[in-house]
Amino acid sequence: MASSSSTSVFLVFSSLLIFSTLLYVSEADYSAPIVKGLSWDYHHKTCHKVEKIVRKHLKKVFKEDIGQAAGLLRLHFHDCFVQGCDGSVLLDGSHGGPSEQTAPPNQSLRKQAFSIIEDLRNLVHRECGRVVSCADIVALAARDAVHLSGGPNYDVPLGRKDGLSFATQNATLNNLPAPTSNASTILSALATKNLTPIDVVALSGGHTIGVSHCSSFTPRLYPTQDPTMEKTFAHGLKEVCPTNTTNATTIMDIYSPIKFDNKYYVDLMNRQGLFTSDQDLYTHEVTKPIVESFAHDEKLFFEEFVKAMIKMGQMEVLTGEKGEIRAHCSIRNHDNKGYFSYLVEEEDQSDLESRAELLYVMCRLVAGEDDSGGELEHHQSLTNETERMDPQIRAQIARLEARISRVEARMEKLEVSVRYLQRRMYVYGFVCLMSVLYAIFK
Ligand code: HEM
Ligand SMILES: *[C@@H]1O[C@H](CO)[C@@H](O)[C@H](O)[C@H]1NC(C)=O
Ligand SMILES: *[C@@H]1O[C@H](CO)[C@@H](O)[C@H](O)[C@H]1NC(C)=O
Ligand SMILES: *[C@@H]1O[C@H](CO)[C@@H](O)[C@H](O)[C@H]1NC(C)=O
Ligand SMILES: *[C@@H]1O[C@H](CO)[C@@H](O)[C@H](O)[C@H]1NC(C)=O
Ligand SMILES: *[C@@H]1O[C@H](CO)[C@@H](O)[C@H](O)[C@H]1NC(C)=O
Ligand SMILES: *[C@@H]1O[C@H](CO)[C@@H](O)[C@H](O)[C@H]1NC(C)=O
Repeated sequence: MASSSSTSVFLVFSSLLIFSTLLYVSEADYSAPIVKGLSWDYHHKTCHKVEKIVRKHLKKVFKEDIGQAAGLLRLHFHDCFVQGCDGSVLLDGSHGGPSEQTAPPNQSLRKQAFSIIEDLRNLVHRECGRVVSCADIVALAARDAVHLSGGPNYDVPLGRKDGLSFATQNATLNNLPAPTSNASTILSALATKNLTPIDVVALSGGHTIGVSHCSSFTPRLYPTQDPTMEKTFAHGLKEVCPTNTTNATTIMDIYSPIKFDNKYYVDLMNRQGLFTSDQDLYTHEVTKPIVESFAHDEKLFFEEFVKAMIKMGQMEVLTGEKGEIRAHCSIRNHDNKGYFSYLVEEEDQSDLESRAELLYVMCRLVAGEDDSGGELEHHQSLTNETERMDPQIRAQIARLEARISRVEARMEKLEVSVRYLQRRMYVYGFVCLMSVLYAIFK
């Protein structure tokens, strides 16, 4: 039983993979304006493997649990809507962040989404160094979540920096619309973010994958049932959530819950949308025809979704000198005690390299080769670099230097005993030779 269900999950997943390779919306297919400071090939020189690393790891993650795709897609949405796509949603201490449960929509972002992003960051930074921001990784993960679930593939403008400020509870509350909102409320809220009604309907299509807790839709069931909800659908939801306080989850697209497709819009036309904010898109006169067009034409939905995602992915981004590239996605570098040892690790390496070079020069000097002018200049510029460093790093380097001289002292002692042994061997050799000669001529 267990194995047959996991086999079928595997089959669905691999067919999604095969199918998804057929769908590619390239940036040439439409004109998506790019924000200044971002570019399609931002990491080309410094980390050209970043997209491969992210996709490879996520394929593995989704093979275990395709549900994680929805968590990652939603994470990008929450990041961008609250003070821009700056990774603030990832910060410990941000409302809606990994340790924060007090701001609604609380309980709802999957904990695993945060650890998957941190795993990706670690893989990317191990390969390239600290050159790709957490915000960029979130954007790439969301793209791959869509594509690896059967949705369109598309290029993501890159070059975001991570934010230095936390998302406050007010900002979180004010920027994430409630699922109980009607379409007019959603339209006007998202219009303040420059999103058109087409964008709003397309982005809501993100609900074609993933799950929701009862509390997000029980107001439509209790005390009275929302008359716009189809009866058998409502009956099924009441079984999952028998009271208005049940803590359970249910799929959001009953037609194809783990496949990124246009069936969400078919659900809406069947009055089987889960939230008021979903279903009302099929009531409002502006959005109703858009819902219908997406339900009939999946290709059109994919195109509009990609456009809207690229737009959303560039909301209030930090670029250039603004922000930073975090060494750990849930902690600002400034607050990161471990970050310091991380920096020193980097310094350690280059320091050891320069030490090795210096030793080499010294060996050559000892060996009598005196053409070290260039090398000494090199050493000079290293000294300059050391002087520009943070005092704490300098202290660390001083400690390293002390360690190195201790090692050197030990080596000197070793050398002494090697010379002593050598002398002993000469003596033994001499004694041995004498005894042989004695034996021969006796
Ligand atoms: C338009 C306003 C939106 C509202 C009111 C809204 C509301 C919600 C709510 C209440 C949940 C369920 C949370 C829970 O109870 O566990 C949810 C889940 C989700 N939302 Fe939205 N959302 C909106 C827009 C978006 C957008 C723009 C995207 C992405 C393009 C998105 C993607 C998702 C996904 C993938 C899930 C499932 C998460 C999971 O399974 O872990 N939503 N949304
Ligand atoms: C969600 O937040 C609301 C308001 O801050 C709070 O009343 C509620 O208890 C929270 N729910 C959970 C599950 O933390
Ligand atoms: C948060 O919003 C509430 C009302 O919406 C307001 O009274 C309060 O002053 C705000 N707090 C901050 C820190 O902006
Ligand atoms: C939508 O909700 C807002 C706020 O709750 C309300 O003022 C407005 O009348 C509602 N619009 C419709 C068309 O129901
Ligand atoms: C659940 O329903 C009861 C009775 O109708 C009501 O008093 C309570 O406030 C409701 N709780 C929630 C979380 O909606
Ligand atoms: C709901 O249940 C999950 C685990 O089943 C638990 O982690 C979570 O804290 C619960 N939420 C509430 C509001 O009780
Ligand atoms: C080291 O710094 C001094 C001034 O701070 C500068 O004159 C010199 O050219 C620098 N040396 C190298 C090799 O960069």
